Amino acid sequence: MESKILFLSTVFFCILSIHAETLRTYIVQLHSQNTTSSQFTSKFKWHLSFIKQAISSDENPSSRLLYSYRSTMDGFAAQLTQSELDYLQNLPDVISVRPDRQLQIQTTYSYKFLGLNPARGDAWYQSGYGRGTIIGVLDTGVWPESPSFNDRGMPPVPKKWRGICQAGQAFNSSNCNRKLIGARYFIKGHLAASPSRIPEYVSPRDSHGHGTHTSSTSGGVAVPMASVLGYARGVARGMAPGAHIAVYKVCWFNGCYNSDILAAMDLAIRDGVDILSLSLGGFPVPLYDDNIAIGSFRAMEHGISVVCAAGNNGPVAMSVANEAPWIATIGASTLDRKFPAVVHMGNGQVLYGESMYQANQFSRAGKELELVYVTNGDTESQFCLSGSLPRDKVRGKMVVCDRGVNGRAEKGQVVKDAGGAAMILANTEINLEEDSVDVHVLPATLIGFDESVRLKAYINSTVRPLGRIDFGGTVIGKSRAPAVARFSARGPSFTNPSILKPDVIAPGVNIIAAWPQNLGPTGLPEDSRRVNFTVMSGTSMACPHVSGIAALIRAAHPRWTPAAIKSAIMTTAEVTDHTGRPIQDEGQAAGVFAMGAGQVNPQRAINPGLIYDIRPDDYVTHLCSLGYTRSEIFSITHRNVSCHEIMNMNRGFSLNYPSMSVIFKDGSRRKMITRRLTNVGSPNSIYSVKVTAPTGVKVKVKPRRLVFKHINQSLSYRVWFFSRKVKRAAMTFAEGHLTWIQSNGSYRVRSPISVTWKSR
Ligand SMILES: *[C@@H]1O[C@H](CO)[C@@H](O)[C@H](O)[C@H]1NC(C)=O
Ligand SMILES: *[C@@H]1O[C@H](CO)[C@@H](O)[C@H](O)[C@H]1NC(C)=O
Ligand SMILES: *[C@@H]1O[C@H](CO)[C@@H](O)[C@H](O)[C@H]1NC(C)=O
Ligand SMILES: *[C@@H]1O[C@H](CO)[C@@H](O)[C@H](O)[C@H]1NC(C)=O
Ligand SMILES: *[C@@H]1O[C@H](CO)[C@@H](O)[C@H](O)[C@H]1NC(C)=O
Ligand SMILES: *[C@@H]1O[C@H](CO)[C@@H](O)[C@H](O)[C@H]1NC(C)=O
Ligand SMILES: *[C@@H]1O[C@H](CO)[C@@H](O)[C@H](O)[C@H]1NC(C)=O
Repeated sequence: MESKILFLSTVFFCILSIHAETLRTYIVQLHSQNTTSSQFTSKFKWHLSFIKQAISSDENPSSRLLYSYRSTMDGFAAQLTQSELDYLQNLPDVISVRPDRQLQIQTTYSYKFLGLNPARGDAWYQSGYGRGTIIGVLDTGVWPESPSFNDRGMPPVPKKWRGICQAGQAFNSSNCNRKLIGARYFIKGHLAASPSRIPEYVSPRDSHGHGTHTSSTSGGVAVPMASVLGYARGVARGMAPGAHIAVYKVCWFNGCYNSDILAAMDLAIRDGVDILSLSLGGFPVPLYDDNIAIGSFRAMEHGISVVCAAGNNGPVAMSVANEAPWIATIGASTLDRKFPAVVHMGNGQVLYGESMYQANQFSRAGKELELVYVTNGDTESQFCLSGSLPRDKVRGKMVVCDRGVNGRAEKGQVVKDAGGAAMILANTEINLEEDSVDVHVLPATLIGFDESVRLKAYINSTVRPLGRIDFGGTVIGKSRAPAVARFSARGPSFTNPSILKPDVIAPGVNIIAAWPQNLGPTGLPEDSRRVNFTVMSGTSMACPHVSGIAALIRAAHPRWTPAAIKSAIMTTAEVTDHTGRPIQDEGQAAGVFAMGAGQVNPQRAINPGLIYDIRPDDYVTHLCSLGYTRSEIFSITHRNVSCHEIMNMNRGFSLNYPSMSVIFKDGSRRKMITRRLTNVGSPNSIYSVKVTAPTGVKVKVKPRRLVFKHINQSLSYRVWFFSRKVKRAAMTFAEGHLTWIQSNGSYRVRSPISVTWKSR
C-alpha cells in the first residue's frame, strides 16, 4: 500500500465471536409504508423488533443493533448469524439485505491555480467566499487546533444547523467553533468488523491526517506563511474559506465501513449540511447495492450536493467509482508546481526527480554518496520492505528503492533505520513517469521509470557507483498543467455507461493542506518533526476542491438544485491547459473518460449563463429507462413506481445530464436525445450551437438557436446522432462536444459527448 494514495480495494472482514455461529454486519432495508411500523412508537423500536424476532436466544436485541437509519433509507445495520439472516430475508417488510463492506479513503497554492483571487467581481467575492454554506466531510476526522480551522471573522453558526460537537477521547465541545461547527464519529460498524484495533482517538479527532487535509482543502481559512518544511511557502486557503465545516468521522485505520458511512449521511441530512464531501470509495458496484449511491439519493432529494472521489484505480478503463448520476464524480489533475530534487550520477548524467526535503537539516544532503540497489535475489530488499536491508550493505549510502508494496515515506524510514544516508525512489513499469512529491525522513527523491532504468544500468556498470541529490526548492509555472493524474480512475462507467463519468477533474497531485499537529509530515510514527501542513495526492484531494466550489456556487445561488450546481461546474470546465493546448493524459490529449467535462473553473462556474437542471423524479425515470426492476428502484430511491406507466408518460426520455453519452448497440445507427436549458445569465440572450462531431458520427441539432427572453426561462433542443457505419469490433469509442455560445460571447456552455459502439 502506498501511504499517500489510500483509495483501495473493497475487502470483506468478518469476526468470530462468542456466538456458535459467526456474526456479520448486514444493512437491512425495509419498506417504509403500509407496514408493521404503525404498531411501534418509534422507528428505533420498530427496527429492534426485527432483531427480536430473528434471534432465538434471550439475548438483548439492542446489543446487535448498530444503527437505525431514517433519513438515507428506512432500515438498520445489525450483527446477525446466517440463520437469523435467512429468517429476516423472508419477512414481507424486508426489501433487501446487504453485507457491510469496507471502503477506503482514497493548498497553499491550488486556489490560485484555479484562478481564484480575492478581488471584486470574482467568484470568491460574488459568493462571499462561500459564506453561510455548510460542508459536511465524511473522512478520518479533524485536527481542530489546526490554524486552517480558526474562526476569526467567520459569521455565526447558521440558524438551520442542528448538528452537535460530539465529545470523545481528546475532543469536547470547545473544539468546535464558528468554522468547525460540528463533529461526530461513527465507529460501531468498524468495531463489529475489526477484531483487533490499532490505537487511535475514539472521537472526531483525526489520528490519520487525511480528514484534516480534505476538510481544510474544501473550507479552510486563509493561513499566511503556510509551508511544508519551507517548501511551497504561501497563503494556504480552502476553496470556500467562508463556508462552515462539519466533520463526520467514518474512516479508521482499517478503512471505512458502509454501515458507519450510512449512519453519518443519515445524521448529516438532519443536521442540515448543504454539501457532502466523500473522499472515499471502492470499486464500482450496481447502484442498488451501493450504499453511497442510496444514501446520496435521499441527500439529493433534500437539496444536498454530494461530491465524491472517482477513485485511484486509473489508468485502467472502467475503474471510476461513485458513479451515480446524482453524485458529482471527481477525477484528479496535476498542478504546475514542481519540487525538483535532481540526481547527479558519477558518470556525469543527470536524472530529474522530485521531493520535499528540508536540505539544511541533514549534513549529507547534496553530498556525493555511494549508490546501492540491494538485489539479494528477493524483491523485498528492492522495495525496501521493513527489515530487508542488510546494515553492512547500506550504511552511509544512497539506497535505491523500487516504488510500490509499502508506503513511500515508510521506505525512507526503513533505509534510515538500516543506516542509509539517502534514498532514491524508482518508479517501475506500473507508475511509469508519474510523479509524487513526498516528505521524507532523510534526503530522498523520486525518479520516473526511464530514469530508473538509466540509474540501474549505471549502478551495474561500475564497481563504486556515486550519486548526489540537489534540492531545487519550489518551482512554479515551468511545466504544462493541468494534466490528468495517472492514478485518476477512468470511465466509461461500469454500471451505467449511459452517463459519462467522471464528471470533472480538479487538482489532486501534490496538494498542500492542513495536517494534525502531533504527526510528522510523513505521518510515520518515527517522524518527530511537527508541521501544520503536508502534501498529499489522490482523487481524495481533488474531491474537496469541488465540494468547496459547490459551496461557492450555493452561496451565490442559494436556490439552485444539486443538479444545477453540478451543471454549472461541468459546462464551464476547461479542456485546455495553461499553455492553451489540450489537457494532457499520459502524454496525449486527454479523453472524456479521463477528464469528463474537463478541469473545474470556479471563476466561470459561478456564472454559467445556462444550466441543465434535473428533478429527483427524472432520476427515477432514468433508472426505469435502464431497465432496473421495481425492487431495485425501490432500494435506491425508496419509491414504489411502475416503470411501465412512467415510460408510457415519458416516451423518448433523456436524463437532462450536462454531458452526453450515446451508445450504438447491436448495429443501431441512429439515436436522438433531448436536453433542456434554463437561463440563469441575462434576459434577452441569444445562443447558437457549435458541434464538434465524434469521428464516424453525423450530429444534427434542432433548433440551432435558442432565444431566451427572461431569466429562469427553459428551452429544449434535440440532438440526432447518425453512425456513418456499423462498427463490428467488440467495443469502440469516439468523442466530441456540443457548445451553446451566447451571441456576444459572454457565455459558453459546453457538453462533452462520448459515443460507444457495442456489438452485444
Ligand atoms: C399492507 O397492509 C396490509 C394490511 O395490513 C397487508 O395485508 C399487506 O401485506 C401490506 N403490504 C405490504 C407491502 O406490507
Ligand atoms: C474541553 O477540554 C479542555 C482541555 O482538556 C478543557 O480545558 C475544557 O474545559 C473542556 N471543555 C468542556 C466544555 O468540557
Ligand atoms: C546487471 O548486469 C548483469 C550482468 O551483466 C545482468 O545480468 C543484470 O541484468 C544487470 N542488472 C541490471 C539491473 O541492469
Ligand atoms: C502551527 O500553528 C500554530 C497555531 O497557529 C503555531 O503556533 C505553530 O507555531 C505552528 N507550527 C509550525 C510548525 O509552523
Ligand atoms: C408497490 O405497489 C404495488 C402495486 O401498487 C404493490 O403491489 C406493492 O406491494 C408495493 N410495494 C411496496 C414496496 O410498497
Ligand atoms: C451580452 O449580452 C447580454 C444580453 O443581451 C447583456 O446583458 C450583456 O451585458 C452583454 N455583454 C457584453 C459584454 O456585451
Ligand atoms: C428565478 O427563479 C428563482 C427561484 O425559483 C427566483 O428566486 C428568482 O427570483 C427568479 N428570477 C427571476 C428574475 O425571475
